[in-house]
Amino acid sequence: MSRKMHLAFILGHGPSQHSVAAWTLPRAYRGFTYAQPAFWEDLGRTLERGCIDMLFFADVYGVYDVFEGRPDAAIRYGIQFPLHDPAPLVPLITRATRGLGVGISVSTTYLPPYYTARLFSTLDHLTEGRVAWNVVASYGRSAAAQFSMAQELSKEERYARAEEYMQVCYQLWDSWDPDALVMDREAKVFADPAKVRKIHHQGRYFQVEGPLDVAPSPQGRPVIIQAGASGPGMAFAGRHAEIHFATSASLDGMRRYRAEVAQTVAQAGRDPADVRVLWATSIHVGETEAEARAKEAALRDAVPPEGGLALMSGHFGVDFSAVPPDRPLEELGLQETPGMQGVANMLLRDFPGLTLAEVARIYGNGMGGLRVVGSAAQVADRLEEAFEAGGGDGFMFRCGELPGSVTDVVELLVPELQRRGRFRTAYAGETLRQTLTED
Ligand SMILES: Cc1cc2nc3c(=O)[nH]c(=O)nc-3n(C[C@H](O)[C@H](O)[C@H](O)COP(=O)(O)O)c2cc1C
Repeated sequence: MSRKMHLAFILGHGPSQHSVAAWTLPRAYRGFTYAQPAFWEDLGRTLERGCIDMLFFADVYGVYDVFEGRPDAAIRYGIQFPLHDPAPLVPLITRATRGLGVGISVSTTYLPPYYTARLFSTLDHLTEGRVAWNVVASYGRSAAAQFSMAQELSKEERYARAEEYMQVCYQLWDSWDPDALVMDREAKVFADPAKVRKIHHQGRYFQVEGPLDVAPSPQGRPVIIQAGASGPGMAFAGRHAEIHFATSASLDGMRRYRAEVAQTVAQAGRDPADVRVLWATSIHVGETEAEARAKEAALRDAVPPEGGLALMSGHFGVDFSAVPPDRPLEELGLQETPGMQGVANMLLRDFPGLTLAEVARIYGNGMGGLRVVGSAAQVADRLEEAFEAGGGDGFMFRCGELPGSVTDVVELLVPELQRRGRFRTAYAGETLRQTLTED
């Protein structure tokens, strides 16, 4: 029997996802529907029809203002701006569905660990065990500036803090024994005080007394997702990730990256099989190849040249307005950035020799990574090839306009993958962790 894929979508709670100007296309929602509950409930139901593992919300704080030293391009084109808080969407979407999981990004740099541990335990109850946390250490001065900090912390410090943060969260989630709840009405005993403990954490960054004031939740803790891929980011993934989001535009790059993840996980004393890798993938499916290519072209042509540059500037902390557009990628200072280093490494590895203008066009339209375009059969062929030759456990789709491009995947691609025995036809697990680890 063929190995089955895991499929998820990465979106943002705003008008613009990972392609600048996708909101301008004919099949995109109108007006403010992206801010209204019915839009997300409907999208959740569509994904559930396709038995998709998870809807995942990326999130950043602040507005990208590195390009030209001001936020004008981000505001003008709606580049991951505005971005509404994704946490309230979690129970809203899971109430409209039975099997779909929902993940959100929450930063270890800006929010306190007690708050985050409590938030995810509460969400785990409200979703009946279908929530995931993408642990991000954040990037960018504009995020720091929203949280009373004049400068962002160095990457080393962000990851050192993230490490202690996880230890605090684990202690809080473990501060109740599973059988601590007594609920004996006659004896009037709610919980056994011997089985709910303070944690007394005294560390370099955090002092937290505990215990967690949320009863043990269905999954015990959220599924831990992680995407950072710098040296310290990868080491962090080795210690904590259950799901690792990875990005590569070539099969060879996928193979090498997958081996690196396995090695890092083993070095942290864990079984490499315990970390599932999902590849960020831009996808366009049509009834025919020509239709899919037309959709791809419409999205590509919608991206204003400045838009790709402004997104790159925000992600890597370099003002590309000041750089000649014909400068080669290798000379853009991406070898070591304060921003998304894993993504910068992917660009350097998979797009050698391109100019800044060429890279910005690709970046503004889905941020690079795998790109699959065609009829359902063609896309399924390409995904199967990547799945077998590149390794990993499945794909995290970046799409074009909402909801049309999601509907295309569910109605055209999913039945094709199901016919090939590559994707589930019903949810088997009760919790998101079970769904994501099902063989
Ligand atoms: C596929 C993918 C998705 C990401 N999503 C987010 C996100 O939603 N919010 C965020 O602040 N960072 C996000 N990041 C950034 C990373 O989590 C990480 O903080 C950043 O890459 C810097 O770490 P690094 O230099 O170790 O890669 C994402 C990265 C990748 C590759």
